[in-house]
Amino acid sequence: MFSSFIHLRAAGTSLVLDARGTVVPSVLHWGAELADPDLDALAASLDLPLGPSSIDTPRRPGIIPLLADGYSGQPGLEGFHLGSPFRRPSLRLVSLDYTDAAVTIVLEDEGRLRLEVSLSFTPAGILCSRASITNLSTAPFALSTLAVALPVPQRATDVLDFAGEWSHERTPQRRPVAVGTWLRESRHGRPGHDDSFLTAVGSTHFGFEAGEVWAGHLAWSGDKRSTVDATATGHVLVALGELLPPGEIVLNEGENYSSPAALFAHSSSGLNGLTDRFHSYFRSLEAHPETPRPLTLNTWEAVYFDHDEAGLIELARAAASVGVERFVLDDGWMTGRTDAKRALGDWTVDATSYPRGLQPLSEAVVALGMQFGLWVEPEMISLDSPVAREHPEWVLRDANSQLPLSWRDQHVMDLSNPHAFSFVRDSINALLTTYPITYLKWDMNRDLLGGSAHRHTLALYRLIDELRAAHPALEIESCASGGGRVDGGILERTQRVWASDTNDPRERQSIQRYSSILVPLEYLGAHVGEAKAHTTGRTSSLSYRLATALFGHAGIEWDLRRSTPTDRETIAEWASEYKRLRPLLHEGRLMQSDSIDGTRLQHGVVATDQSWAIFAVAQVDTPRRAIPDAVTFLGLDPHRNYRVAPLGFSTAADTYPGTAPKWLADSIIATGAILASTGLTMPLLHPDEAIVFEVVAL
Ligand code: DGJ
Repeated sequence: MFSSFIHLRAAGTSLVLDARGTVVPSVLHWGAELADPDLDALAASLDLPLGPSSIDTPRRPGIIPLLADGYSGQPGLEGFHLGSPFRRPSLRLVSLDYTDAAVTIVLEDEGRLRLEVSLSFTPAGILCSRASITNLSTAPFALSTLAVALPVPQRATDVLDFAGEWSHERTPQRRPVAVGTWLRESRHGRPGHDDSFLTAVGSTHFGFEAGEVWAGHLAWSGDKRSTVDATATGHVLVALGELLPPGEIVLNEGENYSSPAALFAHSSSGLNGLTDRFHSYFRSLEAHPETPRPLTLNTWEAVYFDHDEAGLIELARAAASVGVERFVLDDGWMTGRTDAKRALGDWTVDATSYPRGLQPLSEAVVALGMQFGLWVEPEMISLDSPVAREHPEWVLRDANSQLPLSWRDQHVMDLSNPHAFSFVRDSINALLTTYPITYLKWDMNRDLLGGSAHRHTLALYRLIDELRAAHPALEIESCASGGGRVDGGILERTQRVWASDTNDPRERQSIQRYSSILVPLEYLGAHVGEAKAHTTGRTSSLSYRLATALFGHAGIEWDLRRSTPTDRETIAEWASEYKRLRPLLHEGRLMQSDSIDGTRLQHGVVATDQSWAIFAVAQVDTPRRAIPDAVTFLGLDPHRNYRVAPLGFSTAADTYPGTAPKWLADSIIATGAILASTGLTMPLLHPDEAIVFEVVAL
């Protein structure tokens, strides 16, 4: 018998567990930090009344909710022992081990299963939960669900998560919490463009600036499942776990399955408060990039598959002339890769486009003072390739030898085959050893549609880990047809994510706004494309494209050889501003504002010492009023004076449709308190224009 309450806390958040008796511990409180509470008194004050028509002893659902414990919503553990009589899991508490910020809970099902659940706070107040299950029986155990569930109070009335599609990732969707299960699943073998991304449940009207929010994100790059489960009794649970199709995980005696980490966070100050926690968490990871994020040129929209060594060297010269620091050679460099239909898997350099290999181009890039990066898609294989002809058994198939449907004319390399794995690792390794490559853009352009997403994801992680162990300075960008693989698992081993294939700033304003709730700006690849966006056909001004790409790990994806000298001059000015501002952009606090009518978006980054900030106001649609409301600047020190001035490359005064407020002609001085409360008036902007302001403490 246990007689404990456990109080874990960090950075303003508390989790209090009730671990009395031998039932699965339950959560008494998850939310704002409780200052040294008397836990017995707390439990007494939260004693549950007996509801009508219910179990005789009222109980809160355990952190692994089970029917056997009276919870008739979504269970936290499901599975069965093959060949054994039907029986639901029933867990009893075996041991507890805890500190002020972490607890390990061991539970057992009568010598059949052993479950270890750990809950630990990071210094940023992220509650990281993991569960690991071991089969103790001689009968194999088929696991289908394992997820830690945390309760949110009934005042959390709204669920916000995300959907999306190619070039339109991270579309927010919001709905009231209602009795039943709000279930989101990914079966793509990657999180996918429609990834739920973050499951946030908050008080009515919660937004960026205010409201109480409880949220979770699964740090996993494969199939997954998130639920917000509300029972008629009044319990609301948030649970996140790997999606395990029947038969995928079968544990023999003594074998064990460990879940990916679920990252939970609470905020009393809206989504911005969650952002503070997630950003400091991701910034604390070992793989977090430590060097200034180099301004990048990526060749994809500049040349697509039209590779020619001399032309690319000329493009590299144009890139260097505007201040680019990393030149990335995208798809199209491999033998026979004239289009997307063929030649994935061999990773040899095309001798027609590159008669002397990648040496001349990579050396020219390095001589121009830039880093050289290379696109690869190591998890894939084209049927039309020497490697597929020689090793058809390396192409991922289902157990019945069925080939999953073709997608972008490509198939999946079965990385769970040790020979295929070593071949891919050694091929990429050879490239990294032969050429001065410091960066890989790691693409993944299809859903698996077959095989085991679990095994594939583990093999992917091992492949990246082995390559980075052999090349510790190597940086990797996670790309999956744009933003199809942006998650906490991949961020444990990569230094950049390609947020989306669209470089259209209108789409990007929204994609970056929502991606950055979780992902710090230094990870978010954001490129300036040509005036007419390749993905949407929409045309926008250079100033809007520059202002949008500034808020991320900035880059260019445009054939600069065909740009005008005036455009190149403006880009060069922006490039040097990006370099000056990146310590602020990539280390400061992101402050996003709620939008009054959805047509004007505002975001900023404030230095941690509040001495410096940058804010952008973007008009993403036709303004609804001729005289727009003043804009407030959040996160500054209310007692200090600041000078606010527009940056030169953003929308020019002569493009405003009306008259600008007089202060905008130069700059204005105001206290942080004024800026946060009454704010500054703005000119009317055309749709698809933005102004960027620098804010400096005096
Ligand atoms: C999809 C990526 O998202 C693009 O940026 C580009 O790398 C192409 N694949 C290349 O095939």
